[in-house]
Order: sequence, then structure tokens, then C-alpha cells
Amino acid sequence: MTALALAPARTRRRPFFPNLRRPLYPAIESESVDPVRNPYAPGAGQRPPELAGRDRELQQFEVVLERVARGRPERSMVITGLRGVGKTVLLNTFKSMAIQRLWGTGKIEARPDQSIRRPVAAALHMAIRELAPRHRAPERIEEFLGVLKAFAMRDPAAAKGTSHWSPGIEVPASRGRADSGDLEIDLTELFVDASAVATDLGVGIALFIDEMQDVQAADVSALCAACHELSQSGGPLIVVGAGLPHLPSVLSASKSYSERLFRYARIDKLDREAADLALILPAREEEVEFTQEALDALYDAADGYPYFVQAYGKVAWDLAPRTPITLDDVKVSTPEAEEELAVGFFGSRYERATPAERDYMHAMAEIGDEPVPTAEVAEALGRKPSSLSPARDSLIKKGLIYSAERGLIAFTVPHFGRFLRAQPV
Ligand SMILES: Nc1ncnc2c1ncn2[C@@H]1O[C@H](COP(=O)(O)OP(=O)(O)OP(=O)(O)O)[C@@H](O)[C@H]1O
Ligand SMILES: [Mg+2]
Repeated sequence: MTALALAPARTRRRPFFPNLRRPLYPAIESESVDPVRNPYAPGAGQRPPELAGRDRELQQFEVVLERVARGRPERSMVITGLRGVGKTVLLNTFKSMAIQRLWGTGKIEARPDQSIRRPVAAALHMAIRELAPRHRAPERIEEFLGVLKAFAMRDPAAAKGTSHWSPGIEVPASRGRADSGDLEIDLTELFVDASAVATDLGVGIALFIDEMQDVQAADVSALCAACHELSQSGGPLIVVGAGLPHLPSVLSASKSYSERLFRYARIDKLDREAADLALILPAREEEVEFTQEALDALYDAADGYPYFVQAYGKVAWDLAPRTPITLDDVKVSTPEAEEELAVGFFGSRYERATPAERDYMHAMAEIGDEPVPTAEVAEALGRKPSSLSPARDSLIKKGLIYSAERGLIAFTVPHFGRFLRAQPV
């Protein structure tokens, strides 16, 4: 073994660039907190070092997978929650769980202005590619790929020849299945055929849809209908969604039976214990501790929201000279963490809004942090409610606000009201 391999990991991973907030040549003592080993991961879809407080959802999904694999009737799952609570991360974890069971998996992120035909085709292509090497009858796979290609080619842009996109499938497109142009019929046929391939292998297929509230209305309807058909035939294919809190109402507005298709799991901020574990466990791996007062202050700041837990934890770690990380370290780091959030988490979203939409949100923020009546927003702005509908609808489309219930409106971003109140109008 070389000397390098024998050196303690912390010395080996010493940063090349000195952290200027620290003495220029800090002694690398055993109790120092090395920024290079900072475990926290603030960022959209960033896998957290510890997935805290989601045991119930993980268990529920385990049951879904097991029941579907056994051909039992089972509702699929849809995760909902505010921005930054960990929906994407949970969806990705579900995907890993399905892969571990040797299922075929594919994932899409819905966009408001895009049909799901092409992304679904690409995702199922991925799923089948995962299964193909284990399948004993290559002609069954080819047959399915032919249907998949035919399905994909019915994409409006591909059909018109206005796009150079091709599904990347070598086999010729088949005819007469999943290619009618009616998405509901085509999805149903495609799902049935895909699940038949999975059945051959005694596994299932899971199609994950992130930002599901952005699926266009006609496509939601087709998707629900296809899932409904499939649930009746017991085919082992499930659609697992994630989206903003109003996703259940988007689905039920499209098909009244959607409540029977999906089990909704609303995820929220972490409770105190889970928020502490999200910080403590990854730190312990690196032999770093927090004092109780530091944890109290971090919880006060992050309010249990996973994105904030990661963001405040990351800066506290970076600025702490040694373990344990103390209340003083947290106090020093909080303004910097807030600045980073103001730019990266809040600011990037605020910038998406037009001046009229910003006025609307400022009015909401002034009224309070609970869901607010739209009539009250109109009153505050001295406008007729109907004249504000375009701003409100466009903010909903941009995913910045959602209709909590009829006549009420709320921010999708936690602490957004507080951020807005601190902005010059
Ligand atoms: N259970 C958890 N424990 C600790 N940290 C978490 C947990 N879930 C998510 N995080 C962290 O929170 C942040 C946000 O996660 P994610 O992007 O999955 O949220 P989201 O709900 O999908 O947000 P958005 O609505 O903006 O897409 C990431 O930095 C992630 O590491
Ligand atoms: Mg997400």
C-alpha cells in the first residue's frame, strides 16, 4: 500500500484553496470541520445525505410494489407537497426501489406546453431496455418496440415532419396498435403491451411523472383512462406521480374516478426529530457534532423544510471552525444562508413573474401566510376580481401559487410571503 493510501482521509482531502474566512493555514486537527466533506445538498432533486422522515411513504410504496407484482388490485401513489419538500427526491427513491426489484422504470418531467406522448415513449423505451437483457424471447421485445415506435411517431411534430426528432428505435414501426392518434386509446394499448412484457419476467413497470400538475388537461384525462383500464386488467404497470398540492384536484377535475386510481401522499416539512436527524446523521459519518443550541437555532431558521435544512446546514458547516458546530457558528452563518436562498430559491422564482404578477403576489404576502381569499387580494389591489384572473392563472401555470381550495390562493414556495415582504415593491 502506498503512503497516500495510508494517510487519514481528512488529510488526504484537504482543500487546495484556502477558505478565506478561516486562518490562512489552519491546523488540520482531528476536530476541524472540513468544507470538502460537507455532506449537505441543497438543490432541486439533489439526493440528501439522509432521507429523513419519509419512512411511512417508503413503506407504502413497498406495499404498492409488492401488491402489483402479485397481481393484486392496487392504487398507485401520487406524492404532493410544496416546493422544496422533497417530492423529486422521494420519487427518485421510489424509482430505485422499483429497480431493486428488477422492475423496468422510466421517468418524465411534465411541461405545461408539451404533450406527454414523446416523453412517455422515451421513458417506456428506457424501462424496456432495462428488462430486455433478461427476456428469453427477443422477438417479443422487438414486437413491443415496433408498437412503441408507432406510438411515438404519432407525436404531432413528428407526424407533421416539423421536427428532426426520432425515437431512436431501430426496429420498424408496426401498424394498427397504439397509433390511432387518440392518446387515450394509444396509451391504453401501449401500457397493456408494456405490462405484458413485464409479466413474462414476473416483474412490473413503473412510470414516474414529476411536476404532474403540468400535464396538459387532455393528456391527464388520457393518462387516467389508461391507468383505469390497466387497473381493471391487473397489468403490472403503474404510474407514480409527484406534484404541487393542487394535483389531486387537477386529476379529479379530469376524471372523477382518479381518487380511486391514486393514493395521495402529501409530504410536508419535517418534524423536529426528523429535521435533526437530517443534520446529525450525515455529520456523524464525518465525526462532526452539533450542540443542542445549534440544532435549536437551525430548526428555527429552516422550520423543518427539507431544502432549508440542507441550505442552512451547509453554510453552518462551511463556516464552523471546529466540531461541535455551535450556536455562534449558526448565528454567523444564517445571514449567508439566507442570502443564498434569496438568490437561488426565492429569487429565481420571483424573476419568472411579470410586474403585474409580482403585484398580485405582494398583495397576497401583505394579507398573510395562510391561504388567502382571492377576493381579498382584489380588494387590496383596488381591482375587480375578474380583472386579476389572468395574473392569477398565469402564476398558477408558472407553479408559484396554487388554489388551496375554491376561492383561496396560497404560495407553493414555503416562506415566500416573508421573502416578498422583505423586497422593495
Ligand atoms: N427527507 C429529506 N430529508 C432531508 N433532506 C431532504 C429530504 N427530502 C428532500 N431533501 C432535500 O430538499 C431539497 C429539495 O428536494 P426536492 O428537489 O426533491 O424537492 P421538491 O419537492 O421536488 O421541490 P420542487 O417542488 O421545487 O421540485 C434537496 O436539497 C434535498 O436534498
Ligand atoms: Mg421537484
